[in-house]
Amino acid sequence: MEDLKANIERDHLPQHLAIIMDGNGRWAKERGEDRLFGHFHGVQSVRDIVEASAELGIQYLTLYAFSTENWDRPQAEVSGLMELLVNTIRKEVEQLKKNGIRLHVIGDLTMLPPTAQQELTEALELTAENDHMHLIMALSYSGRWDITQAFHQLGRKIQAGELSPESVDAEVIAAHLSTRDFPDPELMIRTSGEHRISNFLLYQLAYAEFYFTETLWPDFRRQHLYKALLDYQQRERRFGKTSEQVSSEPI
Ligand code: IPE
Ligand code: IPE
Ligand code: MG
Repeated sequence: MEDLKANIERDHLPQHLAIIMDGNGRWAKERGEDRLFGHFHGVQSVRDIVEASAELGIQYLTLYAFSTENWDRPQAEVSGLMELLVNTIRKEVEQLKKNGIRLHVIGDLTMLPPTAQQELTEALELTAENDHMHLIMALSYSGRWDITQAFHQLGRKIQAGELSPESVDAEVIAAHLSTRDFPDPELMIRTSGEHRISNFLLYQLAYAEFYFTETLWPDFRRQHLYKALLDYQQRERRFGKTSEQVSSEPI
């Protein structure tokens, strides 16, 4: 296991890693348990991946924890998940603080129960001074929600005469997304064998490398992360150019 880690080139890590943590329900079902049992066990994977990412020197880690579409799941699962998310953040915040990890949340937080909003605000404040790693929880998030809210902001600015329509370019759009303070992810991992984006960071993943694994999220541990990173380090990112152009560019 340590060998995998030793083979990772530390100067060639993604600066921003994004993960769709999927497969909790199936993991529980395989064990004849309720879906919430899977979510509960998924927390241990979150802890391990956050710790391993910080240890490696990944600067931004975004975890897709709950999508805007997930609100349509059965009521018992939604409320159980909300409770788990809030309790976990409350419990883990001291450890984050100690490890120099700053917590961020992206998503439509107005959908959350007021107590959960309050807890989150407090957790964000408690880690606001940290800068060793940024942990971004995508909560009640969807890419289309993000792009829509950016349109609203831009529309208001244009209407107020603060911005001309022609000045809206890719950079201006990025500056109005909820991820405005973070670079685009270079690598996106999805667990559980599903090969889709499920409304995650639609705009921001334009040139991300995708890594899919059959491993279900509650089984995903740091050695799986190391494997994904090693795979990423084998890839040639061309950004529309030719291989010859890219290989002659200074690193
Ligand atoms: C991911 O696991 C967690 C959330 C979406 C909240 P799922 O709950 O989607 O698990 P599967 O995909 O049904 O196995
Ligand atoms: C995506 O997983 C959302 C999260 C992991 C939070 P889903 O399980 O909701 O996605 P679909 O429904 O399989 O596309
Ligand atoms: Mg799923």
